Amino acid sequence: MAKPTVLVTRRLPEGVQDKLAATFDARLNPEDAAWSGDGAEIVRRAAEAGPAGILCAAGDALNARTIAALPDSVRIIATFSVGTDHIDLPAAQARGIAVANTPDVLSFATAEIAFTLMLMAARRAGEGERLVRAGAWTGWAPTQLMGTTLEGKTLGILGFGRIGRELAQMARGMRMAIHYRNRSRVAPELEEGAIYHDNDDSFLGAIDVLSMHIPGGAETRRWLDATRIARLKRGAIVVNTGRGTTVDDDALIAALRSGHLAAAGLDVYDGEPRVHPGYLVLENIALLPHLGSATVETRQAMGDRCIENLAALLIEGREPPFRVA
Ligand code: DGY
Repeated sequence: MAKPTVLVTRRLPEGVQDKLAATFDARLNPEDAAWSGDGAEIVRRAAEAGPAGILCAAGDALNARTIAALPDSVRIIATFSVGTDHIDLPAAQARGIAVANTPDVLSFATAEIAFTLMLMAARRAGEGERLVRAGAWTGWAPTQLMGTTLEGKTLGILGFGRIGRELAQMARGMRMAIHYRNRSRVAPELEEGAIYHDNDDSFLGAIDVLSMHIPGGAETRRWLDATRIARLKRGAIVVNTGRGTTVDDDALIAALRSGHLAAAGLDVYDGEPRVHPGYLVLENIALLPHLGSATVETRQAMGDRCIENLAALLIEGREPPFRVA
């Protein structure tokens, strides 16, 4: 039987590409950047290849227009991500195209980056690194770059899913108290002592560090706005490793400038790779280039999940195990 054709929109780790090539008629992309044209290049290449599956990634524009223009051969979109906000799910559903993602395998890695940003922000690590690299460090001084400890502080986790709960485990090791806000309260065995808030006001007023783990999309757009920032304690820290669209950049920048917030750490940006220029000139913010899942182990595991999803539908004729729509 001929191998099903799969169009791969991004360069993937070698081990993943090898596996894809062994399993499918894989049309691999040698380029390490998203195709340009807001989905137009995906449509052009799909028209050429007539694939049964498309393997895409965060940042690819699988919007309603792109999906409407895909050839009828396409049966599944497997995304190399847990987030699906780059895919118009109703548009895919309307065309009978299955959509599947890569949950679980990136939870620990993403929590590690949230934890890294928390520490960088609290301990002013980015500022210190810049000082040393600039050759401007004049030696140890009793009052130099004093940050704040995380020990004993209260961490507020917005979105208590797998990533949020991994972060909670790490933060317990720093003797932090854990509070969380979520669509609903999780089962007691998943809480492990974390305190649930059923409203934003009590949550935001109780915490010293806010770590955001909510998905992108219309419902969460600019969740962290000026009003909610004002509810945070003076001197609080904000970290975001979910999606940049959930933060009102101007409001966050204003709060970091005024000193209402002590510091922040971001791994994701609205409209990335563009970063709001207001962030770039602030000292009290740590900025990373969407590194959440960027470990060798995790990226291989994400590739394995994509292959499982594609093979299930296109080779084994069964439901993709991580189908989201
Ligand atoms: C995801 O999986 O959604 C990440 O943001 C990409 O690593």
